Amino acid sequence: MCGIAGYVGLRPAAPIILECLKRLEYRGYDSCGLAVESGGPLVVRKTVGSIDHFQEEIAALAPQGTTGIGHTRWATHGKVDERNAHPHVSCDGSIAIVHNGVIENADRLRVELTQRGHRFTSDTDSEVVAHLLEEDVRQGRSFDRAFLALQESLLGTYAILAVRAGSGEILVTRKGSPLVIGVGPTEYFPASDIPSFLPITPRVVYLGEDECFALAPSGMRRLVLDGDRAVRRGDVPKPDSVSLAPDSISKGNFEHFMIKEILEQTGTLERLIGGAPGVVREIVPLLRRAHELVFVGAGTSYHACLFGQYLLAAVARRHSDAYVSSDFEHHAELLGPDSLVIALSQSGETRDTLEALRLAKDRGARTIALTNVELSSIARLTDHVIPLFSGPELAVAATKSYTAQLAILALLGQSLVSDEDGVRPLWQARDALFNLTSEAARHHTRELGRELLGPQPVFLTGRGRHYVTALEAALKLKEVAGLKAEALHGGEMKHGTLALIENGTPAIHFYDDQDFTRTEIAASELRSRGARIFSVGPRPLASSDHHIRVDDAGIATPIVQVIPMQILAYELAKLKSMDPDRPRNLAKSVTVP
Ligand code: F6R
Repeated sequence: MCGIAGYVGLRPAAPIILECLKRLEYRGYDSCGLAVESGGPLVVRKTVGSIDHFQEEIAALAPQGTTGIGHTRWATHGKVDERNAHPHVSCDGSIAIVHNGVIENADRLRVELTQRGHRFTSDTDSEVVAHLLEEDVRQGRSFDRAFLALQESLLGTYAILAVRAGSGEILVTRKGSPLVIGVGPTEYFPASDIPSFLPITPRVVYLGEDECFALAPSGMRRLVLDGDRAVRRGDVPKPDSVSLAPDSISKGNFEHFMIKEILEQTGTLERLIGGAPGVVREIVPLLRRAHELVFVGAGTSYHACLFGQYLLAAVARRHSDAYVSSDFEHHAELLGPDSLVIALSQSGETRDTLEALRLAKDRGARTIALTNVELSSIARLTDHVIPLFSGPELAVAATKSYTAQLAILALLGQSLVSDEDGVRPLWQARDALFNLTSEAARHHTRELGRELLGPQPVFLTGRGRHYVTALEAALKLKEVAGLKAEALHGGEMKHGTLALIENGTPAIHFYDDQDFTRTEIAASELRSRGARIFSVGPRPLASSDHHIRVDDAGIATPIVQVIPMQILAYELAKLKSMDPDRPRNLAKSVTVP
């Protein structure tokens, strides 16, 4: 939710910041802006729309200067317009800030600051930060001291970059929102995420909660309080070197990140088969000991939780519960030291899931994270981490991280009942996946997509683990292709939802050999009421109008079945001239409540 990126060094800041912001657009793309410091007054530029559009707009008048901060926004407070785009500036224009997070006491601060004569020019919660800094400086505090005072004044979450006219430096801090610093020989790149600066430097400093630093070409200094004075100290963290290859965050020859990530799944599954069994084996005793097993996650990750719940019952004969993380509050009260909470999160930053974990920890529960970002907030909060082996996922819609979550859950389920490493079904899935991502299979799926282009809603049905696929496929069709798509439980239709079927309604069925007959009966009931039948399984149903062949891969079948649906969502978005990487109103990392 919102990406922030800054640059301080010896090179012109604006083009570097724009490049860095472009690699953060998955965090939000409503509007963007930057502020550059060049010894004189700050130059601030903003626009509604994408960074590409912004780059063209300011090409001729790109502000000069070697220090600057930038922002790409996902609106939380105030509508999408230029006024609400960041950076926000103080009344005298000498201080600019960018912010990611939510300031919970912004309304009260705004009233107080307005009473003291500050003029607000946006509807955002973030703008209070610029005025708070200005007010403190007006009261005679140093800028460093004013910056440290933000910790006392602000409630909520924040990652903040601040720049002051004439200073040649950037002050940075974070609490509850991600912020890392890329480190070059005489330059720094504070940003929301590593991909932002990865093509320039692999050296990174991770900021702890409430840490404050001043960044200048001459070096990085820690800001701390000494009594009521702000002092600068040299004890700064040593940069780590990240091992991500820069091409893992570029589109390469692909038109979109989404299709690149869909097609990468054969490789990610192979990597996972090589690396995950060992990690999973270490976790298994924890699962065996736990009295209660609980999965939590949001969106696609929640669908993976449902698969985990199904799998533990079907394969390991263990009871577990799966919860949407934003709904966890009351369930958390039932947990204790014998409970084990398994949090699923691609980004590792989803606020709802973080909150759920905090509640679980307050009750003394043990915690495990399945996440794609091993140094994320969720990874740092949990007792154990199982990585997803997926590499960066930059399209807003989750694809390869979902199948990796399912694969790890399949390994967990198997490891509970057998001493074998459980990779056989995953190899089966890998082979099926290879075929389903072939050019011929994609062409077939694209052609089927044309059948779904009309105004009618699309229904997706399945039972058990195939219902999980129906839920996930419906979410992909909704968010990526803007389709009215609804998952209906295959066994529940005759109890009510059959009433929605009319002449021509497309109904997509997911099944395997085991529930072939039951699915055939359900599909023929729909067909008799006029539905057009699409089938996704090992062989067509008698009533299939269109079929996608997906071989049975045992417990790993849902990993395979979802692939044509990811491709379908992608192809439909393209047919409808939508950007599959950037669905309307969404952002990838949901760090707000
Ligand atoms: C859908 C999607 C979202 C995320 C959800 C949780 O394609 O990507 O529904 O799954 O926002 O995100 P993570 O997994 O990062 O916690």
